[in-house]
Amino acid sequence: MSTDEPIPPASAPAPESAIDPRAARWVGLFMIVLVAGGFAAFRMFGRSVPPAPAEVAGDPILSRGRDVFLGRCAVCHGNEGRGDGPLAPTIANPPVGNLTDDEWKHGDRPDQVAAVIAKGVAGTRMEGWGRTLDPDDLRAVTAYVDHLAGRTAPAELRKSGR
Ligand code: HEC
Repeated sequence: MSTDEPIPPASAPAPESAIDPRAARWVGLFMIVLVAGGFAAFRMFGRSVPPAPAEVAGDPILSRGRDVFLGRCAVCHGNEGRGDGPLAPTIANPPVGNLTDDEWKHGDRPDQVAAVIAKGVAGTRMEGWGRTLDPDDLRAVTAYVDHLAGRTAPAELRKSGR
């Protein structure tokens, strides 16, 4: 190598980054907003159910009834029975009623409530659960509906094996 040859640069100049750093910041921000939005939507629409209150958790028939209710009925009737489940806005003529008020369209006697739950209401979206639920689940969810309406579940619902 002769001395009058130009000395090659120690390394090639760093190539210009293809990504504009300002654009990168916006993309980063966008992704944060997307993740936060997804999380918020999950909190709003996800089935996050608070733990059962003590009087329910401590009563086997009510806690069983609550499990059945949350699994089968809350989609229309709402977690607390107020008629505000995720499907409720799509149901009209008749709409999903509020199970926690004093108005019982099909009667307020425990046997009438039990009959509606078991047989349903013809011509409405309230189907009968007598074939789907086993008798203990049926009794438990009936007791739980009584509880949601602020009543004490009648003693006959507590008998099992019928
Ligand atoms: C697909 C939606 C839907 C589901 C699921 C559903 N219901 Fe209903 N339910 C209704 C609608 C609509 C009515 C109103 C019927 C009417 O007005 O005659 C109703 C009425 C009732 C009533 C009568 C209220 C009254 O005022 O007399 C009771 C009790 C009841 N449902 C309990 C339950 C229970 C317990 C379950 C779960 C095992 C359940 N429902 C599941 C839609 C639903």
